[in-house]
Amino acid sequence: MGSLGVLLFLAISAVTVKDSLQGENQRRLYKDLMTDYNPLVRPVSNDSQTLTVHFGFSLMQIMDVDEKNQVLTTNIWLRLHWNDYYLQWNESKYPGVTNVRFPDNLIWKPDILLYNSANERLPAFHTNVIVNSSGYVSYVPPGIFKSTCHIDVRWFPFDVQKCDLKFGSWTYGGWSLDLKMLEADITGYIANGEWDLVEVPGQMNERFYDCCPEPYPDVTFTVVMRRRTLYYGLNLLIPCVLISTLALLVFLLPADSGEKISLGITVLLSLTVFMLLVAEIMPATSDSVPLIAQYFATTMVIVGLSVIATVLVLQYHHHDPDGGKMPKWTRVILLNWCAWFLRMKRPGEDRVRSACHNKAPRSSLTSVELSASASASQSNNGNMLFVGVRGLESYSTAATSPDSGVLCGRLVGRPGEEEMLLATGHAASVATVEPELAKILDEVRFIAKRFRDQDEDESMCNEWKFAASVIDRLCLMAFSLFTILCTIGILMSAPNFVEAISKDFFT
Ligand SMILES: *[C@@H]1O[C@H](CO)[C@@H](O)[C@H](O)[C@H]1NC(C)=O
Ligand SMILES: *[C@@H]1O[C@H](CO)[C@@H](O)[C@H](O)[C@H]1NC(C)=O
Ligand SMILES: *[C@@H]1O[C@H](CO)[C@@H](O)[C@H](O)[C@H]1NC(C)=O
Repeated sequence: MGSLGVLLFLAISAVTVKDSLQGENQRRLYKDLMTDYNPLVRPVSNDSQTLTVHFGFSLMQIMDVDEKNQVLTTNIWLRLHWNDYYLQWNESKYPGVTNVRFPDNLIWKPDILLYNSANERLPAFHTNVIVNSSGYVSYVPPGIFKSTCHIDVRWFPFDVQKCDLKFGSWTYGGWSLDLKMLEADITGYIANGEWDLVEVPGQMNERFYDCCPEPYPDVTFTVVMRRRTLYYGLNLLIPCVLISTLALLVFLLPADSGEKISLGITVLLSLTVFMLLVAEIMPATSDSVPLIAQYFATTMVIVGLSVIATVLVLQYHHHDPDGGKMPKWTRVILLNWCAWFLRMKRPGEDRVRSACHNKAPRSSLTSVELSASASASQSNNGNMLFVGVRGLESYSTAATSPDSGVLCGRLVGRPGEEEMLLATGHAASVATVEPELAKILDEVRFIAKRFRDQDEDESMCNEWKFAASVIDRLCLMAFSLFTILCTIGILMSAPNFVEAISKDFFT
């Protein structure tokens, strides 16, 4: 019983399929179209006729821009339309059938390829072809295309790239297959995180080869895209600007901290790390140096110079007092001109100046012996020193008043002067009066000399240190100016710097 039912059902369904009008028409149509159809034959009524193929594409996505290998990967739907002379039918003969579909290997197709392809195999998936009753064929194969593209990283990361996609028939010349361009369609475009699509203009070209007089037409679309700068700005530019600012701090760090050099070297190293990051992205080309590499190189030069300057500063700062006095010109340039220009005052300058006006205590040392010797002849009482000390009050004023310069306190006790004093009759006269007193005087003189030497050494040291701090300040100014100029000059030289900043950072 069951088998009979199945048989009955099969019979009924067979009858229904056979009676289906559309199915019947389609089957007949396919059969009629495919008999004597040869997919190798260019579908024109007269072989000397030109077949016109309309070609365009829809850019769906920019998948990757490989700067290193100079390859652009895009997701594209090609659009090809042409008229197939052998695929026409009279709609009234096949009622209800307005269009039919063919697998793309059953009918003739133009062999349009991407000329600058970087794929190992030819892209484009195999899709069906739609034909309507007037023989109008629509072929829309999607594909992921890798194309070679000259990516110029000169203005990285403020660059605009133009990548050409050149399509054309590989074998047909312009006389048998004419290309007509359709505008590129970007309505279905999916935005890319790294690139902004600017436009996709297309252009028809005709090229002549040596072999034949025939022109070979091609359609070239140019994908124009602008790199979005935010990512590189945050990850490369801002750290670099910060690091170069840190390099300036080297000149603010006190020399006694002993960290100046290590700070400079650390900054240099961190710059190198960022430079390696950039080098990893960039193609190894010497055609053009990327903007950012220029900036990094300049910053590195600045930091390197600052390390050198720091070594000089440290050398001045820790100058050995026995190593001699400062050369005259160095002193004039650094201590006078530069210090004046930078409005720097020597530490303790004010104190010394006022001390000079109020009879510096240091000058009394010289005066002690003068007054002591002077008073020694007058009286022989045991209070001589006291008298001498009192007596110098009047004397020191005379001795110091002409020397009220910056180095007043120091210059008063010039060794030459003292030598002269010792040589003159004062000492001799004291010696005749009181040998013990002369001894004491000698000791005092010795102590005074030691102190004076010490002070002189110290003042010399201070002079070197001051020179070091002047150099430091000078470098700070110069390098700040240089850094700012370089940052502005290099980064802003990018043609679309303003556009990039306004679009990527302030939206
Ligand atoms: C094909 O076209 C050429 C020129 O257009 C003409 O001379 C020739 O007669 C045509 N042939 C046929 C079979 O129509
Ligand atoms: C289509 O077929 C109908 C009926 O057979 C006929 O009248 C008509 O002229 C044909 N049209 C064309 C364009 O051949
Ligand atoms: C076939 O499609 C083309 C393009 O859309 C159109 O111009 C033509 O009229 C269509 N033919 C028929 C019979 O609908």
